[in-house]
Amino acid sequence: MILKDKVALVTGAGQGIGKEITLAFAREGADVAVCDVNLEQANLVKQEVEKLGRNSEALQVDVTKYAQVEEATNKILDKFKRIDILVNNAGITKDNLILRLSESDWDAVISVNLKGSFNVTKAVSRPMIKQRSGKMINIASIIGIIGNAGQANYAASKAGIIALTKTTAKELASRNINVNAVAPGFIQTAMTDKLPEDIKAKMLSNIPLGRLGTTRDIANICLFLASEDSNYITGQTIVVDGGMVMA
Ligand SMILES: NC(=O)c1ccc[n+]([C@@H]2O[C@H](COP(=O)([O-])OP(=O)(O)OC[C@H]3O[C@@H](n4cnc5c(N)ncnc54)[C@H](O)[C@@H]3O)[C@@H](O)[C@H]2O)c1
Repeated sequence: MILKDKVALVTGAGQGIGKEITLAFAREGADVAVCDVNLEQANLVKQEVEKLGRNSEALQVDVTKYAQVEEATNKILDKFKRIDILVNNAGITKDNLILRLSESDWDAVISVNLKGSFNVTKAVSRPMIKQRSGKMINIASIIGIIGNAGQANYAASKAGIIALTKTTAKELASRNINVNAVAPGFIQTAMTDKLPEDIKAKMLSNIPLGRLGTTRDIANICLFLASEDSNYITGQTIVVDGGMVMA
């Protein structure tokens, strides 16, 4: 077990990619704090973690609110005494072409995806610095690298996450904290299920490996980045997209 007795905090862990990461961590021996704005979903995932024989806590956290993030972090520290792994996964889309993109949709996406990642990074930095160890993983997107028509808010938030990753990596490297980003391509989840069929077919035709990604594909890279096998990697963005974007 590569994460035996580690303590992880995953945001947006109630469904989709965050849920898969949570369960993969638990299978590898970690206790997981399941944070989501949707408490009902978080509780269901908590029960699944417990069935795997690990401790868990479900916490209702809106990552856009620093006070809620800080309160949740303190509760996790009270219960588990440490936080070894943070996954900033909570994210939303509100797509529209720039001319039709409202100020509120711009703000909402930047607030959850980018400010939310900053809020949790800030709150979890303190205990990790004290421990002199930690692994932070930020879920970005290939859209933050290549851009996408109709997703100015999302692309900017994910590019921001990549820059946040590099900066946090530089600030915390001397404290033995690794900070990396994962940039998924087109992964089959509720977020992509809602896309129109013609857009999905077009995206599929651009994937050299010929299939959509699975949540497991993303959980696998997170396992590696959370484990000691990645101790000499920091500030990087790992693209997991079936070959859509090649540097
Ligand atoms: N699905 C894809 O193809 C894909 C591709 C690239 C990147 N991503 C990224 O992966 C992450 C997870 O995506 P997903 O497809 O699993 O999405 P999803 O919509 O299935 O799950 C997102 C979760 O985040 C939670 N959440 C939303 N707002 C929140 C908030 N303010 N505070 C706390 N939790 C909140 C939701 O309740 C939900 O449980 C996101 O950051 C997304 O941008 C997804």
